[in-house]
Amino acid sequence: MPDTALLLGGTGTLRRTAELLAMDGWQVTVTGRDASATPQHWAGLGIRMVVADRSDAQATSALVGDGVGLLVDGQCYTPQQAQELARWSRRCASTVMLSAKAVYADRHGRHLNSPEAPDWEGAVAEGQPTMAYAGQEFRSAEGYGANKAEAERVLRSEGQRVSVLRPSKIHGAGVRQPRLWGVLARVLAGRTAMPVVRGGVVESTTSTEALARTVLACAGRPGERVLNVADGDPRPARELLREAAELAGGDLELVEVDGGHCAESVGRLPWTLDMVLDTAAARTLGVPVTSFADGAVAELDWLRSLARREPDGTWALPGWLDVEGPDLAAEDACLSAWPR
Ligand SMILES: NC(=O)c1ccc[n+]([C@@H]2O[C@H](COP(=O)([O-])OP(=O)(O)OC[C@H]3O[C@@H](n4cnc5c(N)ncnc54)[C@H](OP(=O)(O)O)[C@@H]3O)[C@@H](O)[C@H]2O)c1
Repeated sequence: MPDTALLLGGTGTLRRTAELLAMDGWQVTVTGRDASATPQHWAGLGIRMVVADRSDAQATSALVGDGVGLLVDGQCYTPQQAQELARWSRRCASTVMLSAKAVYADRHGRHLNSPEAPDWEGAVAEGQPTMAYAGQEFRSAEGYGANKAEAERVLRSEGQRVSVLRPSKIHGAGVRQPRLWGVLARVLAGRTAMPVVRGGVVESTTSTEALARTVLACAGRPGERVLNVADGDPRPARELLREAAELAGGDLELVEVDGGHCAESVGRLPWTLDMVLDTAAARTLGVPVTSFADGAVAELDWLRSLARREPDGTWALPGWLDVEGPDLAAEDACLSAWPR
């Protein structure tokens, strides 16, 4: 009898996790609000998609039933949602909650969304303090990390066998916020240069492969833990962009410029500020080392399959993906660590 896994909000970032679990012999059910987001090849892997909104606690509780072998919650943002998840975890052999590195605060209380950038004084390990919570709205710059931090505290006190994962910027096939579109859009448009502002920032990347491998490791050893999740090759943003351009099959020369030399169209670099996650705890659990390329190849292939040429000759992605900002394929577009 295969073990059962239930992934809440699993057609995006958790797509690779669903697939690896299925290939590992798990009987996988994934929820989401839109059945059309289900990859076609999932039928062949035996992955079942159920339309259920995470905010409908009754429907989700019914799916958990008497418990599953592995419950993964990709849509737990608030202390209230954490209370629900904590209740469900008591019926499950193992539970994983997707938190975020946004929970961390530096020694002055500064965090990723502070007006003043935090100073991490080295790689950030799981023991670093996390943000205080004062009832902020979770859909806000201040509230995102604070709510996640409080949700973690609720889960750790009320849940059972819960692994809390803290990824950095996630990339890979299926992610709703594809970070490598800026590169692919320029390659598809036949550009040869990409101006970059503050390309020296080093922010950890998290491939969907890293996430999937970590979830599998947690499922194999149910317990209570907090783990950073990141690829093993953090490097300056300009190097990641160069590698992504090569993987996209383009010949893009990265040109480092200062902000004043950018034209109107300034896009956000995928990696925006210095923050490297310490992943020693994940290694101790046996999580294999992944690289930026593990997610980049998958994301670029997937984006290429979705990109469509518009009547005016430009390239675009479907509207359900979260790609904002200027036309990054434009001749004069810049990518900057901070938007102007
Ligand atoms: N992306 C990152 O860089 C990043 C970094 C750190 C942490 N995280 C954490 O990772 C988790 C996933 O976030 P994401 O931004 O990467 O998104 P994502 O997983 O790429 O997309 C969201 C997924 O959840 C589903 N979903 C959204 N709202 C739902 C709801 N109310 N009920 C059921 N399913 C729902 C979506 O499908 P439908 O739209 O069809 O419902 C989709 O499958 C979050 O907890 C986030 O805090 C993300």
